[in-house]
Amino acid sequence: MTDYSLENWWQPFTNVRAFRDNPRIFTRADGTFLYKEDGQDVLDITAGLWCCNIGHGRKEVADAVHAQLMEIDFAPPFQFGTPPAFKFAERLMQHTPADINRIFFTNSGSEAVDTALKIAHLYQHARGKGSKSRFISREHGYHGVNVGGTSMQGLPSNRHGFPVLEQVDFLPGMLDIENNAFSRGLPEHGTQKMAEAFEQIIALRGANSICAVIIEPVSGAGGMVPPPKGYLEKIRELCDKHDILLIFDEVITGFGRTGSAFASTRFGVTPDLMTSAKAINGGTVPMGGVFVRDEIQQTIFDHTPTNIPEFFHGNTYAGTPVAAAAGLAALDIYEREGLFTCGSQAKGQYWEDALHSLSDLPQVIDIRNIGILGAVSFDPLDQPAKSLGPKIHQRCLDNGLLCRAVGDHMVMSPPLSISHEEIDLFIERFRKSVTEVLGEVKVPAVASA
Ligand SMILES: Cc1ncc(COP(=O)(O)O)c(C=O)c1O
Repeated sequence: MTDYSLENWWQPFTNVRAFRDNPRIFTRADGTFLYKEDGQDVLDITAGLWCCNIGHGRKEVADAVHAQLMEIDFAPPFQFGTPPAFKFAERLMQHTPADINRIFFTNSGSEAVDTALKIAHLYQHARGKGSKSRFISREHGYHGVNVGGTSMQGLPSNRHGFPVLEQVDFLPGMLDIENNAFSRGLPEHGTQKMAEAFEQIIALRGANSICAVIIEPVSGAGGMVPPPKGYLEKIRELCDKHDILLIFDEVITGFGRTGSAFASTRFGVTPDLMTSAKAINGGTVPMGGVFVRDEIQQTIFDHTPTNIPEFFHGNTYAGTPVAAAAGLAALDIYEREGLFTCGSQAKGQYWEDALHSLSDLPQVIDIRNIGILGAVSFDPLDQPAKSLGPKIHQRCLDNGLLCRAVGDHMVMSPPLSISHEEIDLFIERFRKSVTEVLGEVKVPAVASA
């Protein structure tokens, strides 16, 4: 029982009224586990919210944060600097594509997205192409909650009822279970469809009206969908052909999720701007950032008088020394434990095989994976659509497993530090939970021949 009120905190993306009836409180975390108030362990197969990639409770990070708080807790980032932010920025560039050596720090992924949109706009103005003001996004894309990101949202419920920028067109979503079911890694089909849609938008709007394309290299909140083979290469080619900037929203895919530091390095496709957040310091202190191709920054600098800031934009806590110190400590762990690449090596293979072993469960219509990411899609049969996922989610939680339901897709993104034994435990708890739920819901009788 809680000894505090549940009335005052209006929680994000939460059915607060339902929560108050059935509070779900975690009080402790360690490694790959969260712990409920009653002490029950819950295997965290979501790495919090795709952010605790080094696992929970890493002492090194805690010690670095404490030491930094005692050394210098804060100094204004506007017109001033502290060593940790510069050191962290410098270290990060060892993991970015060769042309990307600049980062603008923010506090979250949402801020990173809106910042990237503004940098893209500014760049087009700086090079005398101010007419390029439209954006292209993608159906089922998620780009945070600020007004720019909300406008880029391909998830209707996240746009509905909010003020949005109107100058946005959407590429088709990548989920194609009919043609790509049970793909391991990148699926075969979908690149051509995207390319045709891209060219249609160009024909309709004119390339000289389009500033940038923003996509997640792997769709995350839209149900974890890896890009079809050749997709990212093609979108880069089309952006180059039409002189359009390419923004990869790597808020989820960054920091080892796909088997390399970034999806862009995993797939060898370099965007112009790359947003990041979440796992940037292991999910410990709020932080995000926009990685920027050097030439973009230089063009903006060259265009700006030397007596004013080059970018009238920024946040109080941008590059705060505490978040950067946490980042440096997390980076030590990522590098020392080989976490950036484990998803494309033995652990990635173990994860893939484990996940696909679930294909014998009833009503499973697709299993997808890339790096240390996975999704299992269910056919709800005679249940209302999107009702099975939440039931499985709740049962998993009851059985000590935290995974995520996106409609009837169950999505997994465990800490990269997860062990093979913990992957086995995930399979055991997931299988049990699904079997229980499907045993309880009414399954239509199969007509006999
Ligand atoms: C692809 C993507 N972009 C942006 C965001 C927003 O990040 P934040 O919640 O840190 O604002 C998210 C969050 O899940 C995301 O998945």
